[in-house]
Amino acid sequence: MDFAKGISRRSILQAGAIAAVGASGFVPTRFAIGNTAKVKIGFLLPYSGTYAALGEAITNGFKLAIEERGAKLGGRDIQYVAVDSEANPAKGPENTNKLVTGENVDFLVGPVHSGVALGMVKIVRETGTITIIPNAGAGAATGPLCAPNIFRTSFTNWQAAYPMGKVAMERGLKNVVTMSWKYAAGEEALAGFEANFTKNGGKVVKQILVPFPSDEFQANLTEIASLKPDGVFVFFAGAGALKFVKDYAAAGLKSIPLMGPGFLTDGVLKAQGEAAEGILTTLHYADALDIPENKTFRAAYAKAFAKEADVYAVQGYDAAQLMVQGMTAVKGDATARDALIGAMEKAVIKSPRGTFTLSKAHNPIQDFYLRQVRNGQEVVLGVAEKALADPATGCKMG
Ligand code: PHB
Repeated sequence: MDFAKGISRRSILQAGAIAAVGASGFVPTRFAIGNTAKVKIGFLLPYSGTYAALGEAITNGFKLAIEERGAKLGGRDIQYVAVDSEANPAKGPENTNKLVTGENVDFLVGPVHSGVALGMVKIVRETGTITIIPNAGAGAATGPLCAPNIFRTSFTNWQAAYPMGKVAMERGLKNVVTMSWKYAAGEEALAGFEANFTKNGGKVVKQILVPFPSDEFQANLTEIASLKPDGVFVFFAGAGALKFVKDYAAAGLKSIPLMGPGFLTDGVLKAQGEAAEGILTTLHYADALDIPENKTFRAAYAKAFAKEADVYAVQGYDAAQLMVQGMTAVKGDATARDALIGAMEKAVIKSPRGTFTLSKAHNPIQDFYLRQVRNGQEVVLGVAEKALADPATGCKMG
């Protein structure tokens, strides 16, 4: 029987303390035998729906980093438990509880979808579960809802979109239509772009929001054609991004420059083919980054999974790197919370995207690259914003 199942963390602690003074022959799982029990990691990620490929890439990237580091955390073996979030915000709290309370995980890794993140964050703020967000960009998670136990190895939606506001104006695109799914990620991305764009003199002539995860874009594309803007800025990702880019080209809109956070093409560029030519994006990663960490990572990922790595794989890889640095510092004792959190806060992550550190709100401070699809390749044109930190408005911590 698993001693740790079905009882609270506090009672495990007490039982451990009693056993440690040698009161009985019964050995509780976690403490009396040191750190030999497995570290339990819960993945709350989409393995179905429009973001399924993102969940898979994050999982792969995470496991690759762990395997490369001896398949242990602070000397302890690892047990993974995965729950399919379905990128469904309505099921966010229930799915979080399955891992946090039901499985009593030591670490939670997830989610992809900002709506799921908002429900998850409210729970882990209460339980104190050490959580690493490997994608969802919801500003609140490292803003008003920030907490010592919540970390992110990805981006905020603001961060990934803000740099393009200036780039668009530099390119003379003064009247722009913005479009996305109507939920936190899309709305925050469009707001981030618009803030920088209008500051530089641009005008958003129309904002179009469609329900998530709808991929019926025809009517909206007809409207865009009639508005004749200088450019179009969109947030779409996963299967929806693949479909949008194809539909945009098929609607004959290729003469209007298409822009967005790099999720528009990352992981789906090959499948988009010709339709993606010329798309201009900003992102904290690019396949072609010419740094040793990226080359080694991409080769190892391709070998392990027979697939090309993308930004999601990188974010999963770095979530594991962050966890490794924390657990190494406490020699595998995940109950040494203050030391564990302290080590994670100070982590320097040698990422395939370039080395980064975390802000006080636990969000990466990182470069955002300007990228353009040319001849089927994601070409890095330069750095659009160097060492960009999210303003973390409303975060009261540290
Ligand atoms: C989000 O919901 O925060 C989100 C989802 C997919 C992305 C980026 C952000 O590619």
